[in-house]
Amino acid sequence: MLFKLTDEQLMIQNMVREFSRKVVGPTAAERDRTKEFPAENFRQMGELGLMGMMIPEKYGGEAADTVSYVLALSEIAYSCASTSVVMSVQNSIVCESLLKFGTEEQKQKFLVPLASGEMIGAFGLTEPEAGSDPVSQQATAVKDKDGWVLNGTKRFITSGKYSKVVLVTAKTDESKGHRGISCFIIPKGTPGLTVGHMEDKMGLRASDTTDLILENCRVPEDQMLGKEGDGFKIAMSGLDSGRIGIAAQSYGVAKAAFDAAVRYAKSRKQFGVPIVKHQAIRFQIADMATQIEAARQLILSAASMKDRGEGYTMQASIAKLFASEMVNEVTARAIQIHGGYGFTKDYEVERFYRDARVFTIYEGTSEIQRIVISNQVLKDRRKP
Ligand code: CAA
Repeated sequence: MLFKLTDEQLMIQNMVREFSRKVVGPTAAERDRTKEFPAENFRQMGELGLMGMMIPEKYGGEAADTVSYVLALSEIAYSCASTSVVMSVQNSIVCESLLKFGTEEQKQKFLVPLASGEMIGAFGLTEPEAGSDPVSQQATAVKDKDGWVLNGTKRFITSGKYSKVVLVTAKTDESKGHRGISCFIIPKGTPGLTVGHMEDKMGLRASDTTDLILENCRVPEDQMLGKEGDGFKIAMSGLDSGRIGIAAQSYGVAKAAFDAAVRYAKSRKQFGVPIVKHQAIRFQIADMATQIEAARQLILSAASMKDRGEGYTMQASIAKLFASEMVNEVTARAIQIHGGYGFTKDYEVERFYRDARVFTIYEGTSEIQRIVISNQVLKDRRKP
């Protein structure tokens, strides 16, 4: 085994596993049907320190390492992918961006309640015409004597409705390309910020994904995150961390689908024996186990690099690319092993399959991960 987890990491994993299986799992299928946001789960997760895990204690977090975080996130995803995506966005691109780029005052005002789980946060980067290419975003922020005035539409915003604060990017200088994008902290209730259309999604149905509309939304100067022009950098570095989270989420869902498939294969009889006795099924199980273990190693490797303070952009993208593609294959195989029953809502593999579909799309499509990876490879080659 390449990675030996510490006693503390194992303790966190076990604690979250118990909570996830006991509290999050039993209502996940129902929430998938009703699209009910698991607000009560998040309250409890906040109390357990899961909403700002990698944030120092003085800012309301748990000061856990990234390895512990990915273990915890995988355990939540095992039971409910909708819950895990909210946890992922909150921990990485919201809390870590505030920690890395926020002023002391911003940390006290926004990071403390976010990291302690008192409130949910969101990040608004994507727009109707700017997904993979966020530099082409159209939202604008124009300076006046009192601060900034924002206009534009953000799309596919995780926790768009239930968040209490949103980090939003907008163009502050059109002529500067990615260096002309800035980031703003906007609490809900700010006049000019409204929640728009809520998506009716194929999966992750208990997590809300909405438009956010900015109409002459006034944001004071001291709610700019980082410096003017830092917005793209903030988003990219937040996404590095976020992508390890999506990989961990993929691992958790894959593991759940795998365990369900093995259970089913042991109990289902055809041709007079449990189907697990047939080599056709055993080989599927072997391939799934191999894919899942490979993803686990990549995720722990990326997380460990981050913990050691090394550059991990490429490893995060590799882990995200591999794990998100892997979970789509594994959940499809899990349905195949379930046969006709896997195609019904009586078996949870159907939900796992739908939930997993977006993992190769959000926080950078698989195609974008290949761009990031190849850019990094070629950049490294230029080094002496
Ligand atoms: N960390 C910090 N800075 C970074 C960075 C990183 N990982 N990657 C790039 N940058 C900086 C570069 O240093 C450069 O800045 P300077 O010129 O000042 O040095 C700048 O960003 C531009 O870099 P590139 O030329 O490499 O960037 P690019 O324009 O070629 O695009 C891209 C790069 C990889 C295609 C990027 O646009 C990208 O990742 N696109 C996908 C966006 C994405 O993932 N969106 C998902 C949104 S969130 C979501 O999914 C919803 C959810 O809530 C779950």
